[in-house]
Amino acid sequence: MTVGITALATHLPEKRLTNDDLAHLVDTSDEWIFSRTGIRQRFVAGEQEYTSTLAIQAVQKLPPEALQGVDLIIVATSTPDAFFPSVAALVQDHFKLQAAAFDLSAACAGWAYAINIAVSQIQSGMSKKALVIGSETMSKITNWQDRTTAVLFGDGAGVAVLEEVPEPYGFKSFAWGTDGSGAKHLHAGAIAKNLPSGDPLSPHIVQNGREVFKFATRVIPEAIQTATQKAGLTLANLDLIVTHQANARIIESAAQRLGLDLEKFVVSLHEHANNSTASMPMALDHALKNGRLKKGDLVALAGFGGGLTWASTVLRWAY
Ligand SMILES: CC(C)(COP(=O)(O)OP(=O)(O)OC[C@H]1O[C@@H](n2cnc3c(N)ncnc32)[C@H](O)[C@@H]1OP(=O)(O)O)[C@@H](O)C(=O)NCCC(=O)NCCS
Repeated sequence: MTVGITALATHLPEKRLTNDDLAHLVDTSDEWIFSRTGIRQRFVAGEQEYTSTLAIQAVQKLPPEALQGVDLIIVATSTPDAFFPSVAALVQDHFKLQAAAFDLSAACAGWAYAINIAVSQIQSGMSKKALVIGSETMSKITNWQDRTTAVLFGDGAGVAVLEEVPEPYGFKSFAWGTDGSGAKHLHAGAIAKNLPSGDPLSPHIVQNGREVFKFATRVIPEAIQTATQKAGLTLANLDLIVTHQANARIIESAAQRLGLDLEKFVVSLHEHANNSTASMPMALDHALKNGRLKKGDLVALAGFGGGLTWASTVLRWAY
């Protein structure tokens, strides 16, 4: 049985924060942020808006028939409203769906991880139709005095509907992994003071940008290559590549390492910054709205994030 994406929707909060706005908060500039990252602006949730609020708004934007028969909800997030209940349970209740619901934590690779789990669930016959949501309020764990991280992230949510699709559409392969030895390079939201290694933890986002950059530029091309090979395809077969939207230079490096034209990659981060788990649905939506993603296209997705984690998949777009 093949499983594919049959609907997609995204939501951004109303409040927009440009690079110039940020320059009033910390010692930075539009020139520095844009040249180092490609980001121009980000959106920030209001005081009473949480990750569940954004997730519910994204689901609300799906065509109404998309919710019929949903029996599984997975929310990939690093910024849940609470440790429990899960954000997924709040979505389930809002839409009164007869569904099992849980959150998944794999940082910015979380949405790709959740896609992998949902596909397995549906292929095994355990579930029929899934909402796979990436939703984040990164602004709530940002240290707004720290210019090295405050400029990078944004809030937002995206949702994909997964169900059986006819051949030749749907997901073809997965490649994923974790390297916990890199946990110290990117972390947030700690209640513990230290990692098991003794390295300090923080309630706010802390990042060793150079190490994460090195990691991302290595794993993104490797994971795309592995997933493409597992699908029995070559890189030349791919019509579109959608990576986690963290930094335009990481995407440029991936294109270069894979020997592919940058035109094959979606870059939407200038509009919404790094939305963590929501960034790949955001980029897919951007491609759909700009006519760059059509039924039958072969697409590679690739995410990376704290953990350190990575995940890639290849699918043929089904609508
Ligand atoms: C974060 C990142 C943009 C920083 O770029 P960089 O070229 O490595 O910059 P550096 O950290 O070496 O800093 C260079 C200088 O800019 C300064 N700087 C850092 N942030 C700044 C900001 N927002 N505005 C202005 N200057 C800044 C630094 O203090 C440093 O100054 P110094 O040379 O006087 O010490 C880059 O490392 C990166 O994108 N890493 C990957 C991050 C990522 O993908 N995260 C997502 C994980 S899911």
